[in-house]
Amino acid sequence: MRFSFTTPSIPKAGAYVTLFGNGQTLSEPAASADNMLNGAVSRGLVAFGNTGKKGECIDLPTGKDLGYQRLIALSIGKPDDFDVLDAQNLGGELFSRLSNSGVSQVTIDCTPPKGSAIADEIIASEIAFGMKLASYRFNKYRSKEDNKGRASLNSVRMQLKNNKEARKLFASNDKIADGVHIARDLLEEPPNILYPESFASRCLELRELGVEVQVITDKNMAKLGMGALLGVAQGSARPARMVIMRWRGRKGVKQPLVLVGKGVTFDTGGISIKPAGGMEDMKYDMGGAAAVVGTMAAIAGRKAKADVVGVIGLVENMPSANAQRPGDIVKTMSGQTVEVINTDAEGRLVLADAIWHAQKKFNPSAIIDLATLTGAIIISLGSVHAGMFSNNDDLAQKLDSAGRASGETVWRMPLNNAYDKQLSSSVADMKNVGGREAGSITAAQFIQRFVTNNTPWAHLDIAGVAWTNQAKPTTPKGGVGFGVRLLDRLIAQDYES
Ligand code: BES
Ligand code: MN
Ligand code: ZN
Repeated sequence: MRFSFTTPSIPKAGAYVTLFGNGQTLSEPAASADNMLNGAVSRGLVAFGNTGKKGECIDLPTGKDLGYQRLIALSIGKPDDFDVLDAQNLGGELFSRLSNSGVSQVTIDCTPPKGSAIADEIIASEIAFGMKLASYRFNKYRSKEDNKGRASLNSVRMQLKNNKEARKLFASNDKIADGVHIARDLLEEPPNILYPESFASRCLELRELGVEVQVITDKNMAKLGMGALLGVAQGSARPARMVIMRWRGRKGVKQPLVLVGKGVTFDTGGISIKPAGGMEDMKYDMGGAAAVVGTMAAIAGRKAKADVVGVIGLVENMPSANAQRPGDIVKTMSGQTVEVINTDAEGRLVLADAIWHAQKKFNPSAIIDLATLTGAIIISLGSVHAGMFSNNDDLAQKLDSAGRASGETVWRMPLNNAYDKQLSSSVADMKNVGGREAGSITAAQFIQRFVTNNTPWAHLDIAGVAWTNQAKPTTPKGGVGFGVRLLDRLIAQDYES
């Protein structure tokens, strides 16, 4: 889909979208079309009971006289209550309405209705962002196309006075959307195609964007002493990998921001095997790693002035003759030992070594880890917020605010030493599970043991938000790419010079 930004003019083909506000008269182009169509637009508003609520529209075929084929008068709701996320959603819904409806071109008049809380260049760049996010499809494994033989939308023309500014704003949104799409591609790929080594190869592609990428093999991880991560990987025929990515968009930074992702390319549970029903979902157990890769692509794509490191631990959790057993004791890179009570609590074992390594190597100013870590967080927060655990109020506040601004929201959960006794083991430094109670919190307490020197740290449990079975305006069904918009916003807000 191509996006262009130009000054307003009546189009000669395709669909024409103009905006109006709740309780307001139609925009000038819509009013003139209404005239030509003998009042069909205003009659339509009444006949369809359109009250001008956010997202409501009148979508009419137009005669030859108007030049274009379809007029859409689209309401932004109460103009003083129309924000950036509303604009994105409007764009997403517009894409769904038009993508397979027979028009290949849409022209959107982004002139803001009277009293609009946001300016035309924001409206244009955010509607375009929403359209691009909504346009994501994962069709590479379909042998037949399914477009009902209709033309599909391929040209989006945004029209506004400040088109130069809009083009500039969209240039960066465009790269963020690319990052989201990269994360979605990784989530959607089947686990026979995407396994630790092939995932690492995908990461190498980021070099084209100027990201430094280093792959650590299983042999080298063994030398580094990553016994916890390798214990998870040992049941799989696929060797583990760790990938380190760095975007140095700002020179002279001594302490980069470090992002760490759980990359379990498939989680059978291991010997503590999961039930068959729905097990296919566990291909998205690499959602944390996907978010890190997508974020690196987004910030490199838009040349963010920040120094950010991404570290992902890639393993496949399988049962086999070589698999680790409940009762095994593994030694983490930190030296702490763990009694593996349940081989399905593997994510924290992967994160323990990835976080430790990242800290030793990079002396981070802050660490944020993302992981599809616990089913319990889905019980707590559903698919609305990611769970956030943090040892630092300032970092937690920054993430909260980036979440609200990006629409990828987090909800802070508690950390407390009182939960630690659930992790005591009689034979090792700790167990890898803390029992039924407070499952997401004991997982976070476990991870905290691998954060040193009070480094500001936040853990995002994204098990409930990494995948969606229900399409949303800017998120089709499937892999969400959760975390890319959130982290990109955090970096833009708080880590760019
Ligand atoms: N990958 C799962 C968590 C998960 C569940 C992610 C559902 C996405 C959707 C994780 O490795 C896991 O199996 N967690 C266990 C931990 C338990 C054994 C302590 C869980 O949540 O049941
Ligand atoms: Mn598991
Ligand atoms: Zn898992």
